[in-house]
Amino acid sequence: MSNIRVAESAGFCFGVKRAIEMAYEAIGVEPKLYSYGQLIHNKTVTDDLASKGLEIVENLDGLTEGTLLIRSHGVGKALYDEAEAKGLKILDGTCPFVKKIHNIVHDKLAEGLGIIIVGDGTHPEVIGINGWCENAAVILEDEEAAKTKEIPEKEKYAVVVQTTFRQAKFDKILEILQDRGVNMEVHNTICSATEKRQTEAEELSKTVDKMIVIGGKNSSNTQKLVEICAKNCGNTVHIETICDLVLNNFGKDDKIGITAGASTPPAIIKEVVVTMSEALENAVQNLGGSEEATF
Ligand code: F3S
Repeated sequence: MSNIRVAESAGFCFGVKRAIEMAYEAIGVEPKLYSYGQLIHNKTVTDDLASKGLEIVENLDGLTEGTLLIRSHGVGKALYDEAEAKGLKILDGTCPFVKKIHNIVHDKLAEGLGIIIVGDGTHPEVIGINGWCENAAVILEDEEAAKTKEIPEKEKYAVVVQTTFRQAKFDKILEILQDRGVNMEVHNTICSATEKRQTEAEELSKTVDKMIVIGGKNSSNTQKLVEICAKNCGNTVHIETICDLVLNNFGKDDKIGITAGASTPPAIIKEVVVTMSEALENAVQNLGGSEEATF
């Protein structure tokens, strides 16, 4: 008899859940509702929100009224200023953990420290953080950048890190900066939701025959989960919805693990679990050991 085990931390994190709830609460209440960029990397949710009237904008050009919802990644200060100047109402879905980083870089810059952001410089979260320290941060995306990138002479740097960054990689980068003699205070701003999801994925993938990771193909946190799981479980598959899953590939005696990226709605996870359970006629167990998966 096979088992399907679902990681407890699979799916929406606190920050994404909060922003999505804000959007649904504002729909129908706010006459014109805009989201600055896609709220999450999930087509099912974004299509649903769009059908209910949430309009995605990539900039504020041409907007003269309405409400602007800021997604959990956050944005730079300039966008708040621009929205205010245009008379737009702001609904701030910035995750409080990201907001905390904004405050750190803003305050530390004001204290005269240089700012180092460890993370992907093209990611909206990092772009937003940099926008709270006058776009003056040194951005280091990997060990190579930490070794080679010019770091202007400063008495002291404050180091922050993208919330979804991997702890082990961050530690290596800090070591490199230390070796380069950078005087720094480190603010470990990696989000525990990501860490927890990754640790659980790692543990679960060691104990199963097949691992299913559910999430958008363009979601970086989902891709990281796939990477982690694939190291432990050669039979790791990445799917966006149940439609991508070939059930024939799963035998009835297989132990199957399921996790999902931060932008995967509970309904999609549930659909995968239920469909697989029905197909395999097997019991579903939670990672915690309870008899049924909960959503
Ligand atoms: Fe916030 Fe952490 Fe999610 S920073 S958006 S709760 S991954």
